[in-house]
Amino acid sequence: MSRKTLTTATGTPVPDDDNSISVGPNGPLTFDNHYTFEKLAHFNRERIPERVVHARGTGAYGTFTVTRSMEAYTIADFLQNEGQETEVFARFSTVGGGQDSSDYARDPRGFALKFYTAEGNYDMVGNNTPVFFLRDAIKFPDFIHSQKKNPRTNLPDPAAMYEFWANHPQSLHQVTILMSDRGIPASYRHMHGFSSHTFSFWNAKGERFWFKWHFKSDQGIRCLTNEEAARMPPFGAQQDLVEAIDRGDFPSWTAKVQIMTEEQARSYHINPFDLTKVWPHADFPLMEVGRLVLHRNVENHFAETEQAAFAPSNLVPGIGVSPDRMLQGRLLAYQDAHRYRIGANANQLSVNAARCPVHHYQRDGAMAGCPVHGQAIQTSEVNFYPNDRINAGVPAPEPRVAEPPMPIEQEAWLGRFDTSDEDHYSQAGALFRLMSPAQQGQLCNNIAEGLVKATESVRQRMLQQFEKAEPGYAAGVAEALEKQHSEA
Ligand code: HEM
Repeated sequence: MSRKTLTTATGTPVPDDDNSISVGPNGPLTFDNHYTFEKLAHFNRERIPERVVHARGTGAYGTFTVTRSMEAYTIADFLQNEGQETEVFARFSTVGGGQDSSDYARDPRGFALKFYTAEGNYDMVGNNTPVFFLRDAIKFPDFIHSQKKNPRTNLPDPAAMYEFWANHPQSLHQVTILMSDRGIPASYRHMHGFSSHTFSFWNAKGERFWFKWHFKSDQGIRCLTNEEAARMPPFGAQQDLVEAIDRGDFPSWTAKVQIMTEEQARSYHINPFDLTKVWPHADFPLMEVGRLVLHRNVENHFAETEQAAFAPSNLVPGIGVSPDRMLQGRLLAYQDAHRYRIGANANQLSVNAARCPVHHYQRDGAMAGCPVHGQAIQTSEVNFYPNDRINAGVPAPEPRVAEPPMPIEQEAWLGRFDTSDEDHYSQAGALFRLMSPAQQGQLCNNIAEGLVKATESVRQRMLQQFEKAEPGYAAGVAEALEKQHSEA
């Protein structure tokens, strides 16, 4: 291999990278040390704000292959033909910790996929759990604050977590999953991924279907106990994924969907748009759609994984949202976060750029206009719409991709509707009853370990929630709390 010449950031060959220019061997540095200054100034700018949640993560590229055409349900281009392949970028993450936290926290795991489809990027920004703690976006900042470190001590604060949950019984289902034996995945390869939210498909006839994504790990599920997790290196899940891909042991997931018709949604006994609930598989069976295989690591973790910008609002024709009030909040949050964290032109970076043509009338902004994947962006000379040059090849809207109108099924009075009377307990109770006695024991002990640090009032309110889900659940936690007290 030929020797490479070291250069400045603008390509000028550098004669010496060890010694700054100084006044004699012992004197001060001079002002013509522009190369030293360039290094120091760039170093000062190496960080961008970390993600406010999901800061710690690892990414890889792969391929999604359709195993069953979804043409009957959606016009989404990448789901039309059996055998059709689409490039994907995936990022897995923990949620609450900062960039240098452990991969083995008891925490949900992010499961974010970017499909580079022929009709734009489609992002599935999900988690490894089918539900979430909340059913209204307005609560998200409060919830995350309660899970992050204490603002005074900068230490983890389990008492605050339970104080939040005691005040929000809607979290009980997800708390039960998080504290169960599935709460700490052994690796990113050994966990499932879910859209959790309900989204919509629409087909060429303009019919809408509600659906949820399930990505089932072909490696199977493997989890750790608290004790096992404490012995793991903090970067172990990242290492596991990178090394598996490097040695050709490519992780894969079987992609499935649950589908509900608009008619079924009208009469189903569970609100299909409530993120704290699953759709029981007995009512809405899983239908296989495709297979995801990750086979290429990133070349540059910062450029690709850190600057990756996933957004639930990155949708493609044939896939829309639903009235889920958590999802609605997320439609604003992510692109706002990207503009702050990465910049106005985040979507021009290689990892975020569409692989299909991008034509729009957005202009300029920091770092604008670099050609990406062989395409120049913002090149058309006309920068407004409508204009008189549509026949000259300038961008124009395509009515074919319009989403069919979404009906509002109930009253549409503007207001703040109280959802606290929805059932918070039955699915948590059903999950508890599905567990073996050993799993129930582990769940109750994991809860007691944190709950013992909370106030008496919080403990009592949590016990009332467990009781409403299943009396045996409350009894198990009460017993585990006793044990914690006697060991203290
Ligand atoms: C209203 C509720 C929510 C809000 C406001 C919210 C907000 C955010 C924000 C601001 C980020 C950082 C984005 C970035 O800087 O690139 C993020 C990351 C993320 N969120 Fe949420 N989030 C919410 C709920 C959820 C839910 C319910 C899920 C899963 C079902 C989820 C999954 C993720 C994932 C996977 C990431 C990391 C994406 C990546 O790898 O870059 N979030 N969220």
